[in-house]
Amino acid sequence: MKISPLTQHDIADVIELMSLGAPYIRPRTASDYWLYATLFSTTCPIARDGDHLVGAIMAFRSQDNPDDVYLQDVITHPEHRRAGVTTALLNAVRERSQLLGARRLYLTSEPDNTTAHTTWTRRGFTNVPGDQTIEGVSVISDYKGPGKHRAVYELLI
Ligand SMILES: CC(C)(COP(=O)(O)OP(=O)(O)OC[C@H]1O[C@@H](n2cnc3c(N)ncnc32)[C@H](O)[C@@H]1OP(=O)(O)O)[C@@H](O)C(=O)NCCC(=O)NCCS
Repeated sequence: MKISPLTQHDIADVIELMSLGAPYIRPRTASDYWLYATLFSTTCPIARDGDHLVGAIMAFRSQDNPDDVYLQDVITHPEHRRAGVTTALLNAVRERSQLLGARRLYLTSEPDNTTAHTTWTRRGFTNVPGDQTIEGVSVISDYKGPGKHRAVYELLI
């Protein structure tokens, strides 16, 4: 498996991969990925097995709080899950973030995404205390706007 920064040439493959992420991930537009590949490539690693795109993380260092790197989308191809793809991509984001001088990785999941919850906690993330608990997952109400409740996870680096 080869991990590398997102480039313009990867965009069609990334859109196809993200379309396999339902119900928790949806592809964004080609213009969005153009932006990520042009301005944020080093925190947007992709994983290839030969020519086949098997995983990707889209993450961004905050300009408002440079300590923070936010992981927007994390996905592994359904046929390649539980093989360490996300673990390798998280390591790449972590290494790059440390080089940039960031102090914290964070992300959100939908409260019922138990596989994501297990992945983040097994990889050392803390489920940030919220104002409600849904099936053992701490959730912050309205985190992403009215009705958009989210489980929030963070890893200090
Ligand atoms: C969540 C997701 C990204 C995990 O990717 P992955 O490449 O399978 O993760 P890894 O193989 O690196 O697994 C890391 C650890 O998480 C845990 N884990 C991951 N998937 C699991 C599952 N289905 N059941 C139990 N534990 C799981 C394991 O502890 C695993 O380590 P181990 O296999 O050494 O025990 C993947 O399931 C996915 O793409 N889901 C759909 C999209 C999505 O929900 N993304 C997150 C949105 S916030």
